Amino acid sequence: MGRVVSVAAVLMIAVACANAQVPSCREVARMIAPCVAYLAGRAVAPYGLCCGGVVALNRTVLTVPDRTSVCACLKTIAPRLPILNIARAAILPRACGVDLNVTISPSIDCDT
Ligand SMILES: *[C@@H]1O[C@H](CO)[C@@H](O)[C@H](O)[C@H]1NC(C)=O
Ligand SMILES: *[C@@H]1O[C@H](CO)[C@@H](O)[C@H](O)[C@H]1NC(C)=O
Repeated sequence: MGRVVSVAAVLMIAVACANAQVPSCREVARMIAPCVAYLAGRAVAPYGLCCGGVVALNRTVLTVPDRTSVCACLKTIAPRLPILNIARAAILPRACGVDLNVTISPSIDCDT
């Protein structure tokens, strides 16, 4: 019984931390994964799944340190995308109606 309670407590702490913490780069990559076709210039407009990811990403960027860490992730992710249309990357958040303060770019400055 005590053991069941402590396992539940550990799970609850894990979930609380997952919500409070900045997403890992893996999670950031997963959020923007549906945008790859748009970023490569293959899709005319960002579509639902992609914008859903951008909105989710926006929700994780609440403070300047959040932005710095998400920015650092995007900077490592950007060069690994098969094709990155920089102009499209720059307007992606706005195309989704999100005022995200980070652009997907290999040359983004994460310190400002
Ligand atoms: C993006 O995040 C900001 C700050 O948390 C929030 O005010 C805004 O409503 C969010 N935008 C969308 C479209 O979710
Ligand atoms: C965007 O980020 C910069 C640097 O962190 C900050 O000075 C600026 O206020 C932010 N703008 C918005 C709309 O969050």
